[in-house]
Amino acid sequence: MCNWATVRRSLSAVLHEEIEIKRMAYAKMTAEEAAALIKNGDTIGLSGFTAPGTPKFITEAIAHKAAKEHEEGRPFKINLFTGASTSAHVDGILSQNNAINMRAPYQNTPDLRKRINSHDTHYFDRHLSEMAQESRYGFYGHFDYAIIEAADIDDEGNILLGTGLGNGPTYVELADKILIEHNTELPTSLYGMHDVYKPLDPPARREIPIYTPKDRIGSPVLKVDPKKIVGVVETYSLDGVKPFTEVDAVSKQIGANVVGFLLGEYRMGRIPKSFLPLQSGVGNVANAVLYDLGESSEIPQFMMYTEVIQDAVLELLKKGKCTFASTCSMTFSDATEEKLFKDLDFFHDKILMRPAEISNSPEVIRRLGVIAMNTALEADIFGAVNSTHVLGTKMMNGIGGSGDFTRNAYISIFSCPSVTKGGLISNIVPMVAHADHSEHSVDVIITDQGVADLRGKDPLERAHLIIENCANPMYREQLRDYLKIAKGVGQTPHALNAAMAFHTAFVETGDMRNVDFSKFL
Ligand code: COA
Repeated sequence: MCNWATVRRSLSAVLHEEIEIKRMAYAKMTAEEAAALIKNGDTIGLSGFTAPGTPKFITEAIAHKAAKEHEEGRPFKINLFTGASTSAHVDGILSQNNAINMRAPYQNTPDLRKRINSHDTHYFDRHLSEMAQESRYGFYGHFDYAIIEAADIDDEGNILLGTGLGNGPTYVELADKILIEHNTELPTSLYGMHDVYKPLDPPARREIPIYTPKDRIGSPVLKVDPKKIVGVVETYSLDGVKPFTEVDAVSKQIGANVVGFLLGEYRMGRIPKSFLPLQSGVGNVANAVLYDLGESSEIPQFMMYTEVIQDAVLELLKKGKCTFASTCSMTFSDATEEKLFKDLDFFHDKILMRPAEISNSPEVIRRLGVIAMNTALEADIFGAVNSTHVLGTKMMNGIGGSGDFTRNAYISIFSCPSVTKGGLISNIVPMVAHADHSEHSVDVIITDQGVADLRGKDPLERAHLIIENCANPMYREQLRDYLKIAKGVGQTPHALNAAMAFHTAFVETGDMRNVDFSKFL
């Protein structure tokens, strides 16, 4: 049997030696010199997925350049495409300086959110699995620059990527020029933890040959045309991902309900004995679910096929509860990232990072039977989910990978608290004010109150289950009243004039509990 750790160490040594000898082939420059190359209106693709793997220094320098240009009365904005969200060093500072014209496919930064909702920045919110291929199809125009964070690079254009891939492989292919941020904080022993694979586009597309989360199908490095590399900026920084806050009682209860549901499915034999790969969204609830799964002695060892792994996964890998994680990014807090780097030999053959179009590939998700667990802003009584728009109008983050996983999962679970803002908002509503996931894709809704298993249920049965099991008791009566005024008309009974009454009550009075259905009765 191949001793992977030995193979990796020797490959890493070879790569490193070449790099040491040949790296000087590229123009070294400062972040400011790199930013000086960028022009108003340029389209830029960044590597990375969440903060990991995403450049930090050149983007900050571009933001400062934008500020200066604006001060001097000149327009300066870029079009920015990424793998997913970024960080304060990208979306944060660029938005503070109003330097983004067009942005896709996902973000989660307060400053950018404000720009999007006030129309300073155009934003299209796209399924993450589709962004790379649609860029290649030419849907988003010409790419001027790709900026890539690298752990290392040799003079033949072999880039050892960082801790997140995103759409880097596609952006380097499409861009006229490439800038590299060589982050010396990243160990070159990451070599072997990436699986860079780009499918052919239709009509030449074949199957993506991943049959278990462990299957390696591509290259450990990203190969680019070295002539396109116009500069390398030396940087030194961890990703700055914040550690998790203490899990609150509501998140704990949601986590326990999710684990209870999965255990039930497992006991009934609806999840195979060997279990199925898990996808888990980001945030405290997702982290809580994973910790709880780790605690359960009945749940066997499992693997993950997901887009991000958070702190909990590293612990589960260490404990042996999770045996392998396929991901697009290692979104660890700095403290956990340091633990990973210290113990990289242990984790090296247990984590594989892939481009977003592979980590989120609908084909692979469906084939592997991934169990998807995502979070909703609100769900309606028939099972439709709003993941993106607060009260139907304001963009929160974006759909991210939730659609990729939800639509193709073996079982798709959405969770959320039953109420938000101390009860002023019910997360279960008559009709979602914005629909991201239809009832056709959502299998199970889970709140702190309980579980609504929607599989095999007709719309009215779903409505009763969601109201009785998931809605907060302080809103159940109003939701029952809504069904009454809908009078059972049609298969999915709605009173269209009252469907948004919860949202309207909040907008008008600041409290959904003030909904008054008497005028519709
Ligand atoms: N109406 C209005 N506001 C709501 C709301 C609702 N129904 N539900 C939540 N909110 C508010 C919360 O009060 C909170 O506001 P605050 O920032 O002022 O405190 C904010 O929205 C975030 O809510 P929270 O419960 O903390 O959400 P979260 O961190 O669990 O994130 C999503 C929930 C839906 C925003 C997040 O999961 C997301 O962006 N999903 C889409 C992307 C995705 O699923 N990707 C795939 C997995 S990585």
